[in-house]
Amino acid sequence: MIAPSSIDQVFETARVEEVIGDFVQLKKAGSNFKGLSPFSDERTPSFMVSPVKQIWKDFSSGKGGNVVTFLMEHEHFTYPEAIKYLAKKYNIEIEETEQTNEQKEAANERESLYLVSEFANDYFQKILHKTDQGRSIGLSYFKERGFSDETIKKFNLGYALNEWQAFTDEALKKGYHIDFLEKTGLTIVKDDKRFDRFKGRVIFPIKSMSGRVLGFGGRILVKDNKAAKYLNSPESDIYHKSKVLYGIFHAKQSIAKEDNCFLVEGYTDVIQFHQKGIKNVVSSSGTALTPEQIRLINRLTKNITVLFDGDAAGMRASLRGIDLILEQGMNVKVCSFPAGEDPDSFAKQNSFEELSLFLEEHAKDFIQFKASVLYEDSKNDPIKKADTVRDIVNSISKIPDRIKKEIYLRECARIMDISEAVLFSTLAQINKKEYQEENKKYKAEQKAFEVIKHSQPIGKVDVQYVLERKIIEILLLYGNKAEDFEDLILKENDKGELVLEPVIHHAKVFEKVYLDLQDDEMEFTNEKFKSLYYTIIDALNQNADFELKTFINSVDKEMAIEITSILMDDERYNLDNWQRMNIYPKEKRHTISQLVSETILNLRCFLIDKKVKEFQIETEQDKSNSNKNILEEVKDYSSLKMLLSRKLNRVL
Ligand code: CTP
Ligand code: MN
Repeated sequence: MIAPSSIDQVFETARVEEVIGDFVQLKKAGSNFKGLSPFSDERTPSFMVSPVKQIWKDFSSGKGGNVVTFLMEHEHFTYPEAIKYLAKKYNIEIEETEQTNEQKEAANERESLYLVSEFANDYFQKILHKTDQGRSIGLSYFKERGFSDETIKKFNLGYALNEWQAFTDEALKKGYHIDFLEKTGLTIVKDDKRFDRFKGRVIFPIKSMSGRVLGFGGRILVKDNKAAKYLNSPESDIYHKSKVLYGIFHAKQSIAKEDNCFLVEGYTDVIQFHQKGIKNVVSSSGTALTPEQIRLINRLTKNITVLFDGDAAGMRASLRGIDLILEQGMNVKVCSFPAGEDPDSFAKQNSFEELSLFLEEHAKDFIQFKASVLYEDSKNDPIKKADTVRDIVNSISKIPDRIKKEIYLRECARIMDISEAVLFSTLAQINKKEYQEENKKYKAEQKAFEVIKHSQPIGKVDVQYVLERKIIEILLLYGNKAEDFEDLILKENDKGELVLEPVIHHAKVFEKVYLDLQDDEMEFTNEKFKSLYYTIIDALNQNADFELKTFINSVDKEMAIEITSILMDDERYNLDNWQRMNIYPKEKRHTISQLVSETILNLRCFLIDKKVKEFQIETEQDKSNSNKNILEEVKDYSSLKMLLSRKLNRVL
């Protein structure tokens, strides 16, 4: 259990925009930040973060909440995990009460897998640094490869003893359950025998974007044609090979900052680049890039540079996989190293300046590069040339941006010495179907925009809905603020007319709202708002330090979603406007007390109107009856409404 005081401290310190900024590339948009939704595959930003309100809203998925909710949604953390993550980020010492056995058991399975992996990570490092075998074999191997102590520590590199069950024994001794050792693949269970998966190998832990250990890669140290050079953790509940990129944890900030990501093949390529000072680098661990991996990068930057080992065959094979990257709308460059070199060996031999210069000079636009490679391959072979044309146009067809597509077609026509018309008609042919699909998608996107644009009610407006919603918003944002309110006391003057007399009184916003609504016996008509209203009033009443960001955490998910919708919907229009016209919307201009009074007055006027209409219907239905009383009431209400409207500076 984490002590409540530690939780408070975490909430006080953590900034939602900083925390989310580690996962999503955020751009300032007015008083907010916006970015691509990390929960969907979008090209137009609909993800908003409000530093003022300390909340976030994802309009594409509807999700929203505070800093902790984000971590729970995005990293699939539990609540305590999220708190611990934040504590670590902000160097806050967590006070924790010891876990009981029951609590240990109750911890969910995923958490257990994480814990086992974390333990193994510590264990392998300890073996590397603290045992003779670790030092003489593992550490000396890393040194030979040119890794510094600092690098070895930073990447948590380790070593697994060349024994059958040294790790498993130690883990069991420490109380880790065999089920979880088996599920992470660290231990292989056969009948009643247990073996360590990693044995006599140097270890590379593989981490998530947020730095949790998910699995391991182990490199063999002796030449053995029967054994694989690298052995990796199997798929598990926490390790999905297709969804992780080696190095992403250490690279994410630099990728966003440099607005580019280098993609390499191997663990050692990543590490060597880092050591040389180039940190925006990740590895796909030797396999073709998956859409999920590309999405991970896409959240941080639109630009990717694929680095090829210096062998022509490998490079040609990889060219195909790159189409996937184009499909996600990213700008792709490629760079190949001199024959016989890979990024690791090249970085090892050169200084930071030399490496940077090399990358700058040799990185070529992917399409142009592919076109020239294909052209070289086929320039003297007309049949082959036809194939290569199809091949390059196929790549171009994957680019979502139409203008870019066209530019590339013209460019390739030039590079491959072929007429533009041929390329354009090839495109039409290849993509007849795809093109239609895409067109549909494009139209759907446009449509979605229209919905956003016009969803602000234009014609018939449900005034009561809007006002009730506004009251909730006011309570959430300013409920706890003390303000001077100009209350209107209804009085009868000497002439027997109704007048409103202003009286200043100091109160908290929520008290004012609550009392006013109670006075008028106003009830919320919208059920969601009604339950929200009482929950909020209750929280404000009980807690003098009410804070939105902590309050959101105490309500259920449905309510949190409703709350973020209420608080961020305005911002959505801003987002849209900003997007379209590059203008910054005006800040809310009211003083708080003005806003509160106006909203309540508006609601009163509305309810009076409603009342008057009800009376009218009543009198029409019942003409015979003496309607004098009702008519009187209508008259009173009408004059009240006139007074209120005047107060609102409105002309009736
Ligand atoms: N790989 C793997 N299993 C293998 C071989 C390779 O998982 N049997 C993955 C590893 O992630 C490796 C990457 O593919 O880092 C690239 O493979 P390779 O180029 O052969 O290895 P290097 O990273 O260059 O490793 P080293 O320099 O240590 O030989
Ligand atoms: Mn290598």
